[in-house]
Amino acid sequence: MRQFLIAGNWKMNGSLAANEALVSGIVNGVPDGAGFRLLVCPPFPYLASVASQVTGSAVALGAQNVSEHDSGAFTGETAPFMLVDVGCDYAIVGHSERRAIYGETSEQVAAKFLAAQAAGITPILCVGETLEEREAGTTEQVIDEQLDAVLGAAGVDVFAAAVIAYEPVWAIGTGMTATPEQAQEVHRHIRARLAAQDANLAEKVQILYGGSMKGENAPGLLCMPDIDGGLIGGASLKASDFLAIAEAAAQS
Ligand code: PGA
Repeated sequence: MRQFLIAGNWKMNGSLAANEALVSGIVNGVPDGAGFRLLVCPPFPYLASVASQVTGSAVALGAQNVSEHDSGAFTGETAPFMLVDVGCDYAIVGHSERRAIYGETSEQVAAKFLAAQAAGITPILCVGETLEEREAGTTEQVIDEQLDAVLGAAGVDVFAAAVIAYEPVWAIGTGMTATPEQAQEVHRHIRARLAAQDANLAEKVQILYGGSMKGENAPGLLCMPDIDGGLIGGASLKASDFLAIAEAAAQS
């Protein structure tokens, strides 16, 4: 039985004061129940302060990105062990904004995935198609290329300690959520692709949906058989909005 993971991707938002209020609202409002885990991913400068607030709570800490390198002359980058050092359990890799704005390739994302995992961080691998790709009927090909970069580099076994997030680019920050059926179709495809190599392992991998998820649409998405949680941007910036999604997970 897979647990739900409800992950907040704060992107480049927040401040010391705002984060403190947001995190205390989340920590104090975690719904009762055992079938889910909450995660917050603040910007890098705030990881340590948020870590001190979530330590000992039901909320885990993650980063929004990570370097594929361990140390050295990489100005502006953050090594995987540094994330461990400040208390992170997870790192998002290959978010579509990193791919589109910063030119990260699937090979580079795979290298980040493996570097994070080698340091003991659980990578959250983001995959997803643009609207043009969906309209051209190439959704599955795009997802396969993004997944295969990791599968080809390291095999299916690495997914035993990883999370996948399906985030259709056209649904991110647009208010246009994929329907539960549209999302489920891609989630099933992702799981089948892993299952072709290891059916047991594929059954255990958490696959999150991301793209305008909120309290109102979360119950419909989370009741689909292959949707195991959410990667949430906009609705993770207000404790009550984030907790409404957590509540949907607790009820599902
Ligand atoms: P959104 O962002 O919930 O604001 O659409 C999701 C994401 O980019 O992870």
